[in-house]
Amino acid sequence: MPGAPTRMWTYGGSFPGPTIRRPAGQRTEVTFRHELPRSVGELTVHLHGGHNRTQFDGQPGGLTPAHARSFYCDIPRGLSARQSGNDLLLNPGGRKTYVYDLIEDGRPERAAFQWYHDHRLDHTARNVWHGLAGMWIVDDDFERSLPLPRGERDIPLMIADRSFDRRNQLTDPFTNLRPPNDGINAHNVLVNGTYMPHHRVTAQRYRLRILNVSQFRPYNLYLSNGAPMIQIGTDSGLMPKPVRRSEIMLGPGERAEVVVDFAAAAGEGVELRSGSRHGARNPLGTHPYIGALMQFRVDSQHLPDRTRVPRKLRPLPAWTKHVSHKPKHSWEISIGGAFQTTWLINGRTFNPARADAHPKLGAIETWEIVNRTKVAHMMHIHATDWYLLARNGKPPPPWEDCLKETFFVYPRERLLLAGRFTDYTGKFIIHCHMLDHEDHGLMAQFEVVKP
Ligand code: C2O
Ligand code: CU
Repeated sequence: MPGAPTRMWTYGGSFPGPTIRRPAGQRTEVTFRHELPRSVGELTVHLHGGHNRTQFDGQPGGLTPAHARSFYCDIPRGLSARQSGNDLLLNPGGRKTYVYDLIEDGRPERAAFQWYHDHRLDHTARNVWHGLAGMWIVDDDFERSLPLPRGERDIPLMIADRSFDRRNQLTDPFTNLRPPNDGINAHNVLVNGTYMPHHRVTAQRYRLRILNVSQFRPYNLYLSNGAPMIQIGTDSGLMPKPVRRSEIMLGPGERAEVVVDFAAAAGEGVELRSGSRHGARNPLGTHPYIGALMQFRVDSQHLPDRTRVPRKLRPLPAWTKHVSHKPKHSWEISIGGAFQTTWLINGRTFNPARADAHPKLGAIETWEIVNRTKVAHMMHIHATDWYLLARNGKPPPPWEDCLKETFFVYPRERLLLAGRFTDYTGKFIIHCHMLDHEDHGLMAQFEVVKP
């Protein structure tokens, strides 16, 4: 925006943080140094969509001298550093090296568009708001063999809404917001850290990797020239087959990868916009932003284009064909508390020392998520990818008939999901990705155990 630059908390000096791009199967170490003021407290980094050992998964941790009391979470006193996960945190002035194996079931993991962000207990919303988020791309041989647009025609786009004061500095919107009214909708929508940017493109096909890191707000994306978006990927990489979409609803934490052909728009401007949805239920948590997000300025020159979207992309893994439709575990979201309201899962807030489900390593389990509140939530599960079997007993739409890890759950909705636990035992979390909800109790933990 015109005027003074915005001071932010960053990974490596920029917002978004550096986009890290790695080949699947290649063990990658990233060292984070905590150079923010001590008052920020401990940090923790989660690679969202990654499949990592529990000590490198960005555990939220518990109470510490710098964060002595949790307003929302019922954390027992006197837990050891190990019980609360404090031994895994990144301390002010300290450093921690995270090790990412980029494998799944012992083999290179599927290529996917992921992202990394802070995940500290009670402070995730604040820390991400101030800038602690970046993108991460995993490539693999299978994707490289497909004729999809690549190089400069493969563009990651991080959407984030933020509010600024008259001097372009971030506001502090976190005071006095209590569940169920703790969703923050900010005034300006940024794409890759810029308000209403434009990007020059050739009159050819592009792959856009779109990620929503907003605290609460969804976007219902469409193109101003009415061109279709051919969706090829979701949170967990390529779908089994492409799906032609005129609009795409994207909640916090979700990703959509699309191929867009700018050939018909040579010499024109095409806006990526977000607009309202027609004929859909619109409870709190599902009101999309209305307005333009960015503009593509298309070259007037017509160029040959050898890329295309194959009719078949990545087949579903074989295990998805042999799953039970009977849930082994149920996660029920509600709201409670007499004196001060909190979000709850199975009647409880988050406690880092407690795990509520204990799937065995190597098992395929079916879980259900039930929303008993009047607000939609965006449930995200760490550690593995999930195959959505049903929403309220009905099979999912084509764009959800694939692997994912972040899901809208509407009021009174019941999701049935199947996942497989591989490679690592240990504790992982499940939570709402509306960041204030996550900080206000809507988080629980499961532990993958030895068979
Ligand atoms: Cu992107 Cu547990 O979060
Ligand atoms: Cu929520």
